[in-house]
Amino acid sequence: MKSSAIAHSNIALVKYWGRSRHHDPSLNIPLNDTVSMTKYGMTDDIHLQTHTTIEFSPEYNEDIVSVRGHEITGRHLERIINVIDELRSLAKIDYRFKMMSQNDFPTQAGLASSASAFAALTIAAADALGLRFSRENLSKIARLGSGSAARSIHGGFVYCYGGNSHETSYAEQICTLDCFDMHAVIAVVDSAKKEITSDEGHHLAHTSPFNEFRIEKSHQQAQELRRLILDNDFDAVGAIAEANCLYMHAVMMTSQPSLFYWQPATLNIIKTIQKLRKGGLPCYFTIDAGPNVHCLVQSKNMHEVQKLIGQIEGVKKTILVKPAEDAFVTGDHLF
Ligand code: DP6
Repeated sequence: MKSSAIAHSNIALVKYWGRSRHHDPSLNIPLNDTVSMTKYGMTDDIHLQTHTTIEFSPEYNEDIVSVRGHEITGRHLERIINVIDELRSLAKIDYRFKMMSQNDFPTQAGLASSASAFAALTIAAADALGLRFSRENLSKIARLGSGSAARSIHGGFVYCYGGNSHETSYAEQICTLDCFDMHAVIAVVDSAKKEITSDEGHHLAHTSPFNEFRIEKSHQQAQELRRLILDNDFDAVGAIAEANCLYMHAVMMTSQPSLFYWQPATLNIIKTIQKLRKGGLPCYFTIDAGPNVHCLVQSKNMHEVQKLIGQIEGVKKTILVKPAEDAFVTGDHLF
């Protein structure tokens, strides 16, 4: 009963910030529908992926989890157990497990490490337990670990229903990785762990006076984006993604306590992207819960944009990103 899986991170074009307070908090029901691109890092050693191996056995006396060689305890372990308990109960198996996981990129730094981590965990554990579920159903289980992980079950471009119950909150694919020409240049400003994780930040969303507005707009924007991606309208998608990112950061900045994830270099990058666009180079920004910026581009422009963004003061490195495939089972075991 051992299996391994690889999943990729994703960048939200319409973002999730804040969970429903009308449901059990462990269900992680997002306040709004979201849209994302699952992303594959094109840099030699950074593919923005998590590789996880899990084994269930009557011989284990306790659940053992190690990530990058470190034993995991506390809140992170709780989130892992949340996913595994659901799968154990569906499989009607109560064996303990051993799990090992490796990310090839910095964790908790606004590069969405929890998305690939919980997607890989869900795919590997379901396979090890012999459960054959649709990707939509697997996305519901991944959400129990992390809201954004529901989307990383799928490759390409993804729509995630916020929903109003465990059954109605899931992700589906809009289209596969080559259906829409969108790549990204990630400008890494800081890859250190952030002070307030998304997990903590989600609890503050409702304290912002702009929260209700953001939720309502995000629902509309998510539906528009689905149509615009299928129409291959890069500029319209970029403009909406940028607006949605600013709505989320407005909520973060105006929550109590206020959350500022940006650093001076973040603003330099935003200004540069706006200038490049005025000069006729189509590119748009989006920023998650951290200071790093994803610059959305078409493939033909990615190297030029990478060069220009890489020169901005405060940019430590750049990572080129293209759409990734679905999360998948691999025979390559970590133990
Ligand atoms: C800003 O999915 O990381 O990246 O559910 O606690 O794991 P948890 O939160 P997470 O939140 C994502 C927040 C975001 C926007 C997004 O990806 O939609």
